[in-house]
Amino acid sequence: MSAVVPGAAGEGASLGGRPARLATGVISAGRVGAVLGAALAQAGHIVVGASAVSAASRRRAEELLPDVPLLPPDQVAQRADLVVLAVPDDVLPGLVRGLVATGSLRAGQIVAHTSGALGVSVLRPATEVGVLPVALHPAMTFTGRAEDLQRLTTCSVAVTADADEPGTPAAGGMGWHVGEALVVELGAEPVRVPEEARPLYHAALTHGANHLMTLVGDCLELLESSGVRESRRLLGPLLGAALDNALRHGDRALTGPVSRGDAGTVRRHLDVLSEAAPRVVPAYRLLAARTADRAERAGLLPPHAAHDVRTALDEEDR
Ligand SMILES: NC(=O)c1ccc[n+]([C@@H]2O[C@H](COP(=O)([O-])OP(=O)(O)OC[C@H]3O[C@@H](n4cnc5c(N)ncnc54)[C@H](OP(=O)(O)O)[C@@H]3O)[C@@H](O)[C@H]2O)c1
Repeated sequence: MSAVVPGAAGEGASLGGRPARLATGVISAGRVGAVLGAALAQAGHIVVGASAVSAASRRRAEELLPDVPLLPPDQVAQRADLVVLAVPDDVLPGLVRGLVATGSLRAGQIVAHTSGALGVSVLRPATEVGVLPVALHPAMTFTGRAEDLQRLTTCSVAVTADADEPGTPAAGGMGWHVGEALVVELGAEPVRVPEEARPLYHAALTHGANHLMTLVGDCLELLESSGVRESRRLLGPLLGAALDNALRHGDRALTGPVSRGDAGTVRRHLDVLSEAAPRVVPAYRLLAARTADRAERAGLLPPHAAHDVRTALDEEDR
């Protein structure tokens, strides 16, 4: 296969004799597609087309890809050496099959998708016509605004390529190198994630980042219900320190009533939450039980105190 290699030694360098600056097509101008397209343009690639139908996507394209023609997906793919598919996960298999069926993909193109949970097997129909498949998932939350361009340069990007080609993730085939080179060009850090690890990798990130948002949202509402003013200012330093401690020191840095074995306080919490926010109670119980497990495992909570906390959490009438 002759594929264009991004980031090869300077302008014009390539494997297979073609220029390293890639004609790039972005299928979508979604939160990720618009940002990735703009970042690839900043890295020197030429964005030759993007697709956008909804008003939101058209607005993002106007802001982040101002001179890029908006075209139907098949035309975007036909113009491009690098085709970026940044669409919802459930749309991806049908889109790939459609692009192959319409002859819009050809041997030698690089096709990259941005889904976290999927590896390159979803690109199999395209691989069969000779494209080089890569999965590039930025471990970042994007809202599709210009500030995301800066965020992209601070994040890691999970790279997955075809394990069937010569070289395993450890040894490295062409797809792995191409994916990593693209990520480095964006100013981000590539991290190899094997195909079979993608669902669990993505579940971990979702559990951390998305559920953190839910937790913080619930926490703000509880503070507001309690009548505390300036809840965001109050929470910011506390949550910032908790995140920093968790990443730096792990479970040894746990604080709070569960890690101290303060079962009476846990009971009081369940009483007031049952009154003020019953829908939060199941999540509080589950997370407190997980906290007790972790605190016990870290040696912070002796077994008898862990037992007292679990008893309080299991009491039905709270
Ligand atoms: N947002 C994040 O923080 C984030 C981070 C990392 C990775 N990702 C991944 O990136 C992918 C896209 O997520 P997103 O958040 O950018 O989604 P999004 O903002 O909802 O954008 C989805 C885009 O896909 C387009 N689209 C939908 N159906 C299509 C179809 N059948 N054919 C062509 N285009 C279609 C939409 O176009 P119209 O609006 O014109 O319909 C829209 O531009 C997902 O796989 C997601 O897991 C997201």
